[in-house]
Amino acid sequence: MKLFTYNFLIIFIIISCNKNIDDSTNSDINELWPFKVYEFDNEGNIIFSEIDILDFSPSRECASCHPQQYQEWKLSSHYKSTNNPIFKIQKNKAKEHFNNKGDRFCIQCHSPSLLISGLYDTDTLELSDDINEIINDGIGCDFCHSTTRLNTASLILDDYNLIDTDYYLNPGEGIKYGSNQNPQSNNFHDSKYNSIYQDSRFCLPCHNMVIRNVEAHMTMVEWASDPLNVMADNRNCQSCHMPFEGDHHNHMFSGIDVDLTKPLDHFENQIRIESIESLLDTAVISYFYNTESEIADTISNNDTLKIPFTIQNKTSHGIPSGTSYNREAWIELKVLDELNNVICEFGTIESNKDFLDYDENNIIFTSWVQNEIGDTIFSSIDIHSIIDNTLKINESVEWNYSCFIPDHISGLIKVSSRMRIRPVKPQLFYSDIEFNEYLYLLDNIPIFDINLSRIEKIIIID
Ligand code: HEC
Ligand code: HEC
Ligand code: HEC
Ligand code: HEC
Ligand code: HEC
Repeated sequence: MKLFTYNFLIIFIIISCNKNIDDSTNSDINELWPFKVYEFDNEGNIIFSEIDILDFSPSRECASCHPQQYQEWKLSSHYKSTNNPIFKIQKNKAKEHFNNKGDRFCIQCHSPSLLISGLYDTDTLELSDDINEIINDGIGCDFCHSTTRLNTASLILDDYNLIDTDYYLNPGEGIKYGSNQNPQSNNFHDSKYNSIYQDSRFCLPCHNMVIRNVEAHMTMVEWASDPLNVMADNRNCQSCHMPFEGDHHNHMFSGIDVDLTKPLDHFENQIRIESIESLLDTAVISYFYNTESEIADTISNNDTLKIPFTIQNKTSHGIPSGTSYNREAWIELKVLDELNNVICEFGTIESNKDFLDYDENNIIFTSWVQNEIGDTIFSSIDIHSIIDNTLKINESVEWNYSCFIPDHISGLIKVSSRMRIRPVKPQLFYSDIEFNEYLYLLDNIPIFDINLSRIEKIIIID
């Protein structure tokens, strides 16, 4: 497959060009750092593991000395990765279709400490409070901070191999690894500087997945498709998703999700929304012109106003990225008269939970995935094909809107547009009867507007 070669090439380029890995090559760096070994078969059964679940501390134990990181992480999707109803419903479906393999497929990224310590059949086990807490942490502090080496291979899966992830960790030895070059000592743990924490590939093992030759989540490959990102690594994942805030790196890992189980005005969601808005602020830019033409300054009645339009991606991966099949971004454009009555509108919806109008006049960025029999689905494990309509990295999309200006309009008209994005398509909640009891969550789906995408033009009726 062509795409495959391309991906491998890109991963190879990341490996060979990344300047973050000081002067030494990757293999030299890897030789320096110890890690504990585990092995599983292709059902995901642990055959052997040097890692015990209690090698990881509950994240709560870090809170007294690292209160900011702890509070931010508590608001992150990394913490909430197994604690939301969407995950639970979809994981149960995966288990129905693929037995234990389905279960373990999900937790290899969403609750990795559980998988590699072989403790997955948690439904049937009596566990201590500490163990329950560590499991409940999802992707906890110690999972990341016991990582010693990078895994530079993308996760490439098929029906036979649904669990195939490799993590290089050294937990339980009282050492925390991180990006702090000269950490002060403390009584609780040793600290070791490891340059991989400032490398985008630290995020690779979970933020990239090909399944049955379908590119399901490709954030890392998208990012790496811009040679500037790879060569200079000046826009690593951490720089946007873990911004430095004077004394620490923000651990909220804002993307686009809020906690759907809480109302939008809940203080936790308010903090996330503020952070998501600032992340989104300059993510795209738009113009009322394209390579063919520019918007006119005047128009006559009974004429059709042509609205040439361009939207350009200014961020470091696709929009949306990741689980792009659950997310959607679109252009809302309105033509209004002097009294703000609508003459024409595109991409408008009345409430946050309305479906978009997927007609050819609207610009909508998302992807659609299908299972074996061609049904649209909203979960990764059954993916057999994808229609990818996302706005690619560095891509500009051009469009021509048109709007008929009737006789009775006079004076001035206003054309305005903005790009909007929401983390979940409302369709997801109608995709399975299991969601019926959660339809109230639809009220908590936010819609964000991207600041730099807001444009306006006044046109005179002559
Ligand atoms: C062990 C696997 C793993 C690693 C390593 C990892 N992530 Fe994640 N990340 C996830 C999972 C799983 C989710 C989704 C959780 C959920 O919403 O259920 C996620 C969610 C996110 C989100 C939030 C998306 C949103 O809309 O809220 C961002 C941003 C993110 N990760 C960035 C990073 C960055 C940057 C790194 C590297 C420094 C990283 N991740 C490393 C597994 C991982
Ligand atoms: C008794 C206080 C204390 C506790 C508890 C504690 N730490 Fe630390 N940690 C520190 C101090 C002090 C530093 C050094 C900070 C500095 O130099 O700015 C540090 C540094 C770190 C670093 C940076 C290491 C580096 O070289 O970059 C990481 C990562 C870290 N801690 C993770 C954790 C995790 C995870 C936990 C919970 C399992 C935890 N810490 C619990 C006090 C503590
Ligand atoms: C998804 C992985 C991930 C998780 C989960 C995570 N960290 Fe980090 N942490 C990082 C990375 C990556 C850096 C380095 C960021 C950089 O330097 O750009 C970091 C940096 C740090 C540092 C160094 C000081 C700073 O803020 O830069 C400390 C201390 C720390 N983390 C503690 C914690 C604690 C405590 C938790 C849990 C509450 C936690 N981390 C959860 C990935 C993670
Ligand atoms: C230049 C800043 C920037 C960099 C660098 C960056 N991101 Fe993002 N990221 C964003 C913005 C803006 C969004 C929200 C808009 C969107 O959907 O892309 C986002 C969204 C996300 C999401 C949520 C899914 C989504 O589409 O909303 C994940 C997961 C994510 N990023 C992971 C990563 C990873 C992993 C890397 C490194 C390979 C990375 N990002 C690099 C700016 C950045
Ligand atoms: C390759 C690692 C990986 C595997 C395997 C995986 N996920 Fe995820 N998942 C992620 C990452 C990374 C994100 C965040 C991407 C983003 O924000 O767009 C995510 C996001 C999610 C989200 C929340 C974001 C949304 O779309 O609203 C849900 C729910 C989810 N996954 C469920 C599952 C289930 C259920 C399974 C098993 C059938 C699974 N995942 C398997 C890595 C994985």
